[in-house]
Amino acid sequence: MSIAVSKYAQSQEYGTVYAYDITMGDFSAKILSFGATWQSMTVPGKDGRRRDVLLGFDTLEGLLGGDYEGMIVGRYANRLSGSVTINGENFDLEKNENGVTCLHSAKEFSFANWASRTVGEDTVELIHYSPDGASGFPGRVEATVRYTLTADGAMKIEYRAVSDKDTVLNFTNHAYFNLSGQGDILTHTMKINAAAYVPVDKLDIPWGEIRPVENTAFDFRTAKPLGQDMNAPDEQIQNARGYDHNFCLDGEAGTLREAAVLRSEEDGITMTVLTDNPGIQMYTGNFLDMPGKGGVHMGAYAGVALETQYYPDTPNRPEFPQCTFKAGEEYHSVTEYRFSVDK
Ligand code: GAL
Repeated sequence: MSIAVSKYAQSQEYGTVYAYDITMGDFSAKILSFGATWQSMTVPGKDGRRRDVLLGFDTLEGLLGGDYEGMIVGRYANRLSGSVTINGENFDLEKNENGVTCLHSAKEFSFANWASRTVGEDTVELIHYSPDGASGFPGRVEATVRYTLTADGAMKIEYRAVSDKDTVLNFTNHAYFNLSGQGDILTHTMKINAAAYVPVDKLDIPWGEIRPVENTAFDFRTAKPLGQDMNAPDEQIQNARGYDHNFCLDGEAGTLREAAVLRSEEDGITMTVLTDNPGIQMYTGNFLDMPGKGGVHMGAYAGVALETQYYPDTPNRPEFPQCTFKAGEEYHSVTEYRFSVDK
C-alpha cells in the first residue's frame, strides 16, 4: 500500500497539475488534481494480466478536449433547463449546450485545478472553491472530494460541499468504464437496481414522468448484455442512440446500497457500484469520438459511465427528490466502485 505524487503537467492557465498514484496489492489508481480526475484504475483479469478499466487520456490537453472522462462534475451534475428558482428567486444559468440547457454546470468544477494532498497511505483529498455566481449559480461553494483505494479493491469516493448561500448541490464522477481495457462494452452485462427511469425530451430534459422499466429496454433488474437492447425501437433509445438516462434507484436514498453491477465474463471482472444517491445516469458513450490513451480511438460504446446523482433538472421538478441545500448546510455523499476478479 503506497501513494506517490508527481508533477503531471504544467499549464499556463491552470498551473501545476499533480498526479497521485495509489497502489494497493494488485490494484492501482491514478488521480489528477485537474478536474479531481480519476485518470486510471488498473485491475487484474482472471488471466492475471492487468488492464486499465477507465477511458481517458495521457495528457492534460486530451482531458481539456474530452467528454469529462473520470472528472468530478459539480455543483450540479447532468442537465438543468436553463435556470433554477431558489427561494422564489430565478437564477439564469450558463447555457453551454445548444444555447438552451446547462450541462454539468459548464466548466465549474471539472475544468479547475483542485488543491490536493494525501491522507494516510490510501487516500487523496482534493478541495476546490467556486465563486458566488459561477455558471450563474448562487453561493460560493467549497467542495471536498476524497478518493480512497481500499484493501479489497474498491474505489471509494466521498463528496462534501457547503455553500454560503442556499444553492443546488449534486456532485458525481464521470468515469467511463470498460472492464476489458479495450474494444467496446456491448458484451459486458449490466444490472441496475431500478424499477423506474426518467424519460427525457429531445434536449435531454425530463418533463416529470417517472416511467416503470418493466417491458422496456430499460429493464436491467436482471443482468443482460449492454448491447442487447441498444437498438430497441423505443423512442428514448433511438433519440439517444443508446442509453443516456437516469435510473431511479430502488431502496432508500441516504443509505449506501447496491446500485449497479457491471461484468465482463470474458475478463472475469465484476464492478459493483454502491451509492447513497437517489439516481444513477447510465451513458453508454453513444457519441464518443476522439483519441484516448495511447492514441487509441474511443468511439461509440467504448465505455459506459455510471454517474451516481440526483435526477436531471431536479430543481425545476418538485416531484423528484430535491437537492437544494441551505447556506452552511453540508452536502455529503458516498459512492463506491468495487472491483472483484474471478478466481
Ligand atoms: C453525460 C451525459 C451525456 C453527455 C456526457 C458528456 O453525463 O449524460 O449526454 O453529455 O455526459 O459528453
